[in-house]
Parts: sequence; structure tokens; C-alpha cells
Amino acid sequence: MSLAETGQLADISYLDQSPAVQSRLERMKAREVILQVEGLTKKFQAGKTDVTALDRISFKTHRREFLCIIGPSGCGKSTLVRILAGLETASSGQVLLDGHPVKGPGRERGMVFQGYTLFPWLTVRKNVMFGLQMNNVGRAEAKKQADEWLGLIGLTKFADAYPNQLSGGMKQRVAIIRALVNRPRILLMDEPFSALDAQTRARMQSYLLEIWKKVDITVVFITHDLDEAVFLADRILVLSAHPGRVDELIEVPIERPRRPEHFTAAEFAATKARLEALIHPPAKPGEEEEVYPSVPLLADLRDEME
Ligand SMILES: Nc1ncnc2c1ncn2[C@@H]1O[C@H](COP(=O)(O)OP(=O)(O)O)[C@@H](O)[C@H]1O
Ligand SMILES: [Mg+2]
Repeated sequence: MSLAETGQLADISYLDQSPAVQSRLERMKAREVILQVEGLTKKFQAGKTDVTALDRISFKTHRREFLCIIGPSGCGKSTLVRILAGLETASSGQVLLDGHPVKGPGRERGMVFQGYTLFPWLTVRKNVMFGLQMNNVGRAEAKKQADEWLGLIGLTKFADAYPNQLSGGMKQRVAIIRALVNRPRILLMDEPFSALDAQTRARMQSYLLEIWKKVDITVVFITHDLDEAVFLADRILVLSAHPGRVDELIEVPIERPRRPEHFTAAEFAATKARLEALIHPPAKPGEEEEVYPSVPLLADLRDEME
């Protein structure tokens, strides 16, 4: 690579969008709003004091959007996704799904969490059939649909296996289709791949994008992994810590379909650098010294021991 080229790459901003990316995002934003979050605040009672986990969060996602939410540990990501799922209530603000307020769990929202949530006593096929049968789909039809979904993720051969016979990645693939069989409007994913090793994780990201391409689904994907967010998302909502507050909504300037080569693209690096600056802002002058508590020097300790 010539010096001139290097210089050009360094000049790329995460705000620069190719015409293809720009028109893709324009089309996405012209589609109907599936999920709208307005002024969401969540306070927890911790002893006598209140802990504010989320502070006036607002955003919306459009049909077929892949939205990632990123933020440091403890900034309220799981709290947010639990409120979206209807498993937790907000202190104030509201969540609208297709314009209707969310008041509790519902089948229009599919969920995938970090842990493997398959029933260990059911075969893979029966795990997938379970949700359908809970919604009064007949046994034969549920089996047919389960087999179609297993074909989509390439696990037909494992239909009669039990979850403990599958690898971690395979289990999460089954968990994803199990969340999709009831045709939810939105798929909520809370750090679903963080228990997987790096290689499996990267493969799962590609698998998820493959599934997303074939199914009409809007995804809200929580992660604290910057690479994962940039690789997957159309847009990334950045939350700041304590309490969770929206810092920025970033449009990812990378074309689709995403491929592993994109990890080394200049747009990728520029977007990641922006995320890094938001999540780990450079320390202000004088702050660096305060980071580590003072530790007695070895010499001092030796004095004490003698
Ligand atoms: N049930 C709860 N009771 C009290 N505090 C909670 C509860 N759940 C979460 N919190 C607090 O809310 C904040 C956000 O937690 P969480 O949503 O799990 O963050 P994240 O998923 O981003 O790591 C943390 O400070 C956490 O201690
Ligand atoms: Mg969490």
C-alpha cells in the first residue's frame, strides 16, 4: 500500500457513507416503525436509596432494521431489554410495539439470552415444536414447521438429538429459530454469543445475518463487544454508564452483505474508533494518576516483614 493510500484511509470518517450504504439506510428509515421507546426511565430500590439504571432512553427501530445497543457493563442494557420484553416494568416512559404500549410478555417478541435456554429433556425438534404447540399449532404442522426451520440453520441431522449432544454454537442456533417460529415482530437478543469462543462467535454472527436475510424480522441486539456491533448492525445505539443514557445513534457505513473481510475495512476501523471514543473517553489531564489506588511499594512491605 502506498503512503498516499494510507493517508486516504486514515481520513475516512464513520460519517462518510457510500451511495449504496446511504440509499440502503434511507430505505430502511422510510419503512414503518416497529418499536418506539419514549423517555424510558428505570429506578431500582437499593436499600434506602434509588439506583437509576436507565435515564430517559428514547429511540426507534424500523421494520427489518438490525439495531445494536452497546454500552459498558452495568449501564442498564439487560434492564432495557427486559423492559422491552415485558418482563420488567419501567418507572416512567413507554414502549410501543407497532404503536401499541407493551404491558407484559407477548408472542410478538422473541427472545434469545446468553445462557442456553433449550429444554434438556426434549429433542432438538421438540424444543422447536414446543412454542408452536403452546400456541395451539397441531402436532403434525408443528413438526413440519420445526423441520423447515432446522433445515434453514443446517441442523436437520440433529433433529432427534438432545441439547447436551450439541456444541454451544449449535445450541444457540436452535435457540434463535425457537425464538422465531412464532413469527414475532421483533427479536430481542441480550449478549447471546458472549459465552462462545471467539471462532464460534464469529461464525454465529454470520449465521445470524444469514437468518435475518431470509426472515422478515427486526432485531434489537445487545452487546458490549465493539466488533460484534459494527459487524452486525445497521445502526448502533450507544449507552453511557450510570445511569444508562443515549449518547449517540451511529449509522454503520458498511455495505451489505457483511463478510469477514469487512472487519479489516477502513470504514470498520473508523466506526469502531468512534465507539471506543464514546465508551472509553480519554482520561482528562490529571485523572490518569487516580486510576490505581496507592499500593505500598515492595520496599515498604519488606520493611514490614523484617
Ligand atoms: N433487580 C435489580 N435490583 C436492583 N438493582 C438492579 C437490578 N437489576 C439491575 N440493577 C442495577 O441496574 C444497573 C444496570 O444493570 P444491567 O441492566 O444488568 O446492566 P448491563 O446489562 O448493562 O450490564 C446496575 O447498576 C445493576 O446493579
Ligand atoms: Mg447485561
